Amino acid sequence: MSGVGRETAERVGELREIEGRYAMPTYPRAPVEFVRGEGSRLWDSEGREYVDLFSGLSVHNAGNCHPRIVAAIADQAATLGGTSNLFYSEPAMRLTERLVTSSLGGRAFLCNSGTEANECAIKLVRKHGHLRGIERPEIVVLDYAFHGRTLAALAATPRLAREDLFGPLPAGFVPTPRDDPDALRAAVGPNTAAVMLEPIQGESGVHPISAEMLAAAREATEEAGALLVFDEIQTGMGRTGTLWAFQGGPVVPDVMTSAKALGGGLPVGACVIGPRAGDGLTLGEHGSTFAGGPICARSALAALEVIDSEEVRANVLDRETQIRSELAGDPAVGGIRGRGLMLGLELRDGVDAAAVARAALERGVVVNAPNPATIRLLPPLTIAPSDLGDGCERLLAALRAVAG
Ligand SMILES: Cc1ncc(COP(=O)(O)O)c(C=O)c1O
Repeated sequence: MSGVGRETAERVGELREIEGRYAMPTYPRAPVEFVRGEGSRLWDSEGREYVDLFSGLSVHNAGNCHPRIVAAIADQAATLGGTSNLFYSEPAMRLTERLVTSSLGGRAFLCNSGTEANECAIKLVRKHGHLRGIERPEIVVLDYAFHGRTLAALAATPRLAREDLFGPLPAGFVPTPRDDPDALRAAVGPNTAAVMLEPIQGESGVHPISAEMLAAAREATEEAGALLVFDEIQTGMGRTGTLWAFQGGPVVPDVMTSAKALGGGLPVGACVIGPRAGDGLTLGEHGSTFAGGPICARSALAALEVIDSEEVRANVLDRETQIRSELAGDPAVGGIRGRGLMLGLELRDGVDAAAVARAALERGVVVNAPNPATIRLLPPLTIAPSDLGDGCERLLAALRAVAG
């Protein structure tokens, strides 16, 4: 743990002990305790400063502790904390309106996380299928997808859906390769309720789904009378240079899910539908206690205000160019995948991504290794050129330390 001081090591050791004794050991945590954030910088419990190129896994797209978001949360928390969905609440209605009018034009259901947004999408496309007379509706999903951890979202996530541990999983999910348009067309048939995909797969290591695949999914679903669902939980909220990734083309889905950055740091998810999806879910068919609560909804509205601007969109594209020009020439980097500020550095054979991420943290920059050959960069969309420059410099030092 070179570069990380004794005091931090002691504090982290204490937290690790509590975790070891009391927490279900579900996360591989790095030995750092972050205690403060501002914009594109984070500080640990010893006062060490880091450049944040991860945004809490694409959550703090507006930067850490953005003053407008903090003020909205504080104001609402001091005013009214929510009275359930049995009464009206302006923030929830304004957020619903904003989501719909900025995307697919139909209706939206608010919830509390990405996996819940996808559960809502799965329920509503199945319902749509049943209303079309399909007895056992199927959802075609892509190999290497990630849609979440609840049972149906997990069943839609081929590589994690372990029947041996969690079975019986909900049936009706049909996996197909992520890069074979003909196989996708063949997988869609009379029992298909929907094709569900991430326009750029995030958790598998930033793999953009090709325009041919997206066009095949759109054509096949239209021909079959089925729906096309885009999981924009990671790609949305400005991450790829447009508010929603589908707005970068080439096709428009019928259903879109959002979460992560949507809540401006608080847990907010949403499932939005367009005209081909009808009314979606109706009275008694879905619900959630916390969904659309005013504190979270105000935070989401503030996040949208910050992110949905020409200035931020331009910054995303300029900073993408900066990352590509600063990192693409490094001998340890074989290529850069992705769009906007959702980028995956493909490392050359023999350079271990987990070791690079560790070395980067030691040098004061937060990045992520979603697989052994990829470093994922998800910086705040508001990051300044100088902060990004610092982050890239530290990352290059880490790459040199690991790759030699
Ligand atoms: C594309 C995608 N879908 C769904 C999810 C699940 O979201 P959550 O962790 O908020 O349940 C994630 C989380 O990483 C994601 O990246």
